[in-house]
Amino acid sequence: MKSLICFGLGYSGMAVARRLSSKGWQVSGTTRDLATWEGGKTGILCATFTGTSPMHGFAERISSATHLLTTIAPGPDGDPVLNHHREALLGHAGRLERIAYLSTTAVYGDHGGGWIDETTLLAPGTARARQRVAAEDAWREMAGNLGVPLDIFRLSGIYGPGRNQLVALGAGTAKRINKPGHVFNRIHVEDIATTLAAAFATAAPGAVYNVADNEPAPPQEVVGFAAEVLGMPPPPEIAFADAEMSPMAREFYSESKRVSNRAIIDHLGVKLAYPTYREGLTALAAPLGTKDKP
Ligand SMILES: NC(=O)c1ccc[n+]([C@@H]2O[C@H](COP(=O)([O-])OP(=O)(O)OC[C@H]3O[C@@H](n4cnc5c(N)ncnc54)[C@H](OP(=O)(O)O)[C@@H]3O)[C@@H](O)[C@H]2O)c1
Repeated sequence: MKSLICFGLGYSGMAVARRLSSKGWQVSGTTRDLATWEGGKTGILCATFTGTSPMHGFAERISSATHLLTTIAPGPDGDPVLNHHREALLGHAGRLERIAYLSTTAVYGDHGGGWIDETTLLAPGTARARQRVAAEDAWREMAGNLGVPLDIFRLSGIYGPGRNQLVALGAGTAKRINKPGHVFNRIHVEDIATTLAAAFATAAPGAVYNVADNEPAPPQEVVGFAAEVLGMPPPPEIAFADAEMSPMAREFYSESKRVSNRAIIDHLGVKLAYPTYREGLTALAAPLGTKDKP
């Protein structure tokens, strides 16, 4: 039986965990706070890992795991999982067949709206993106030491149930900020799960995959479409120069690129359920009672 341990059973981690669990995998993982963790009724085993000390019982858990996934972003001190489990991994991961690391397309930096793929040189333009490149390298080193293939999944902007522009419009927080030339890709969380399941089912030596939809688009266009789907007027457009935003949002607007997803389609055979934001948002706006409600 395949057995996954997932560091960070958050939004994407839970989508992957649920998908593999439904295929008969044994799945366990971590959260920072069991009291607020939302997977309680899923049958997925969850332990606490806050990034400040090792996960309790890790050696035992990893010794029976065939697959390891980590979704936890690095910090200034490095990758929290490796910081606390390096020795235990080297000592107890004897059954491990595959490691998967969720990264971000931010590692490519700004491309002025140009196309990039997995062969594009990394040019991280922010401190967080540089930490991410360092974390990818640290996992490469660990995978090399273990002799286990590593797949790195560089994700575009994640959306799905509970996390989308329809929700933001409903909450009155959606903005249509126009920065001419600014585009980015999105990826539905269920398509992330599809991509990881496809990678785990493929006997490859380990690779880097961009996980993105088919259509890079300006954010204000996506908010406009979401408003159309809901039959409400779109929020007024705000020029980028006039927009008030958090430092993180400003960082987001500092980079623009079009991400090619050819590799997941050609090499992993992924068929995206939501090839563009239009299919994704339309499904999310489907009547209440469906699994895709916003
Ligand atoms: N959001 C995006 O659009 C986007 C785009 C590209 C890449 N990414 C990256 O893709 C990955 C998955 O994203 P996501 O949106 O699914 O993330 P998420 O919902 O925030 O889940 C992250 C998981 O990691 C855990 N975690 C976070 N910091 C931790 C720490 N210092 N120590 C221990 N555990 C920690 C969280 O614990 P809790 O369960 O306690 O919350 C959660 O389980 C992240 O690395 C993210 O940075 C995100």
